[in-house]
Amino acid sequence: MKIEPSLTDRVFKDLEPELMLELIHQAQAAYLQAYVPYSHYPVGSAAIFSSGKIYSGCNIENASYGLTVCAERNAIFQAIAEGERDLKGIAIAVPTDTFPSPCGACRQVMREFAVDCPVLLINGSGQTKVTSLKTLLPDSFGPEFL
Ligand code: THU
Repeated sequence: MKIEPSLTDRVFKDLEPELMLELIHQAQAAYLQAYVPYSHYPVGSAAIFSSGKIYSGCNIENASYGLTVCAERNAIFQAIAEGERDLKGIAIAVPTDTFPSPCGACRQVMREFAVDCPVLLINGSGQTKVTSLKTLLPDSFGPEFL
């Protein structure tokens, strides 16, 4: 699997390559559990927090479509429920050729628990793009405004 540190070298350095690989593998494993009878678009996510523990999640859809929860939020909310507060990095994997892109709601939820962190995007061929929360959500609003 080829990792391309294409965009943000600074945040890229914050995660060891072995850790990045582990996040990638866990995100890929997570999309196998996705419940996606409506979109048929499985997404998996794995997030590492300051404890060093990794939490994974998949998207879970509902016949009442608006109740769907994205993979990223399921991973992050599980971590928060276990007492974590500091998001250190997150991987998002899909089985399609096109790279994933976290939705606006998930970007804002990431921002609640990190000012910036690496975001790894993995497509169905296992190609990886490295970006950052600040790149995905510039000029953001966060908890320290309140
Ligand atoms: N979805 C995610 O889980 N994460 C993303 O980054 C983008 C969208 C899900 C929600 C829904 O189950 C399906 O993808 C199609 O929107």
